Amino acid sequence: MNLTLHVWRQPGPDAKGAFAEYAATDVSPEMSFLEMLDVVNETLIAKGESPIAFDHDCREGICGMCGVMINGVAHGPMKGTATCQLHMRSFKDGDSVWIEPWRSRAFPVLRDLVVDRSALDRIIAAGGYISVNTGSAQEANSLPVPKRDADLSMDAASCIGCGACVAACPNGSASLFTAAKISHLGLLPQGQAERYRRAARMVVQMDAEAFGHCTLFGECQEACPKEISIDTISRMNRDFMKGVVVGTGAERKSAGEG
Ligand code: SF4
Ligand code: FES
Repeated sequence: MNLTLHVWRQPGPDAKGAFAEYAATDVSPEMSFLEMLDVVNETLIAKGESPIAFDHDCREGICGMCGVMINGVAHGPMKGTATCQLHMRSFKDGDSVWIEPWRSRAFPVLRDLVVDRSALDRIIAAGGYISVNTGSAQEANSLPVPKRDADLSMDAASCIGCGACVAACPNGSASLFTAAKISHLGLLPQGQAERYRRAARMVVQMDAEAFGHCTLFGECQEACPKEISIDTISRMNRDFMKGVVVGTGAERKSAGEG
């Protein structure tokens, strides 16, 4: 297959960006999208040009590093698929493919397709953990977990922190990400001790970053490569309200409770 790529090139955070056109030739339908970019980069390097910068690590849909907008859709045309899991068989010979970084105020572009997603890390640091007494591992069956809670928690835990939900949201909201992280701990017995305080702290941190508010467009759920449900956002909102009641004065103040 031969494709025409229109790739966002931006040398640095403060530089002006623009689309550059590249020909991707002899592309195998079996190549992954990132392998196709690797081949284009080899051609650019051979010509003495700067390769296209893009993030990636695991290349198997688990690290969350690789997201880009492909023809205006976060992670491209395949539902439930991260960019690294997308294959060129999803495109046709002669296609034009527009490739851009995540577009969101909270994710400033660092270079080309690479954005700074550290705002998500700060939400996790605000409460995405449990406090436990360390020691030898306890017997696995000593803490029974209802099957439904285990399943819902596992679904939420599949969030890879890619940020597609933010990029797809017209408001640039990080609610699906934050709700997934709050849900996966809040549904388990080990996460109960800090459940409501955790929700308050993480939502307050989310609001302190440059994310927008959730108005239930639902685009996040459609873009999510792990198909995480917006039901988690209802759980986050409920836990947040309780967290504001049981939380510290500082959390109440940040949450607008005076
Ligand atoms: S909720 Fe889905 S889209 Fe958002 S960061 Fe997690 S995996 Fe990515
Ligand atoms: S490179 Fe790890 S999820 Fe895509």
